[in-house]
Amino acid sequence: MAGPAVIPDGSGSGAEMFPLEIFFPDGPDAVSFPELDEASAMSFPRRFRLSLGAGRAELLDLDAPKDGSLSVDFTGGRLLHRVKYGGGRSQGVAKAVFSRMEPPHVFDATAGLGRDSFVLAWLGCKVEMFERNPVVRILLRDGLRRAEESGLLPWISERMILREERSIAELPDQMLCDVVYLDPMYPSDGRKKAEVKKDMRIFHSLVGKDSDQGELLGKALRIASRRVSVKRPKGAPYLCGVKPDNTIELPGSRFDLYFPGDIRQ
Ligand SMILES: C[S@@+](CC[C@H](N)C(=O)[O-])C[C@H]1O[C@@H](n2cnc3c(N)ncnc32)[C@H](O)[C@@H]1O
Repeated sequence: MAGPAVIPDGSGSGAEMFPLEIFFPDGPDAVSFPELDEASAMSFPRRFRLSLGAGRAELLDLDAPKDGSLSVDFTGGRLLHRVKYGGGRSQGVAKAVFSRMEPPHVFDATAGLGRDSFVLAWLGCKVEMFERNPVVRILLRDGLRRAEESGLLPWISERMILREERSIAELPDQMLCDVVYLDPMYPSDGRKKAEVKKDMRIFHSLVGKDSDQGELLGKALRIASRRVSVKRPKGAPYLCGVKPDNTIELPGSRFDLYFPGDIRQ
């Protein structure tokens, strides 16, 4: 059984919890994921179905079928459009990690669906990704597998590497990288439900809120050699109340930069 840490706490205490429904449209032997046991032990305040087909892994919210489904696709759709036309190194996530001409080695400790990692990898960074939610990790792993198999992004397996650790505490302090990128769940971004994109509603219900951001920031400061970059909503308090060394302001959000040790750039 997975421990209570993987159970989201987003919808209030005392809410009824439902086990994750796992569906194999092509039979259980068609696909395999190392995190399947962990995922099947999870329960959620909503009824989710994880469909694991040979073609694609996707998550549906059975309580809100009109919200569509959640899956990862690096070879088309919104994500590919974003990397092609999103502004290259002038976009927020790139400014948050690049400080020199050459692409840094990045550790994305809150990889989620891999969108920010993909932008950075597209720009030439080697990105090691950590994601602790087993269902999100299945979706991400599936997106990476399909991108590799497509042959459309021949660099993807070298630049986007999904770490196998199951918790941030398992990551070795010796695994140095140039930049650690953090994009933890927002405490509350003040937006009304209707304004959040439908697939992101599923994502928020799936992941819930974070309660252990201190551990995340502490680890990040130990393994980054150049900077830790934290994405925050505009006006949000600093992560764990720790004042950054610098900030990059964007229209709807900001990046707080922490420079570990004596390194300043
Ligand atoms: C806002 S999402 C990240 C989205 C991601 N940047 C993207 O582009 O798809 C935050 C992710 O961080 C993970 N996460 C949050 N807190 C964490 C923690 N303390 N340790 C590890 N992962 C965490 C969550 O499971 C969630 O998938």
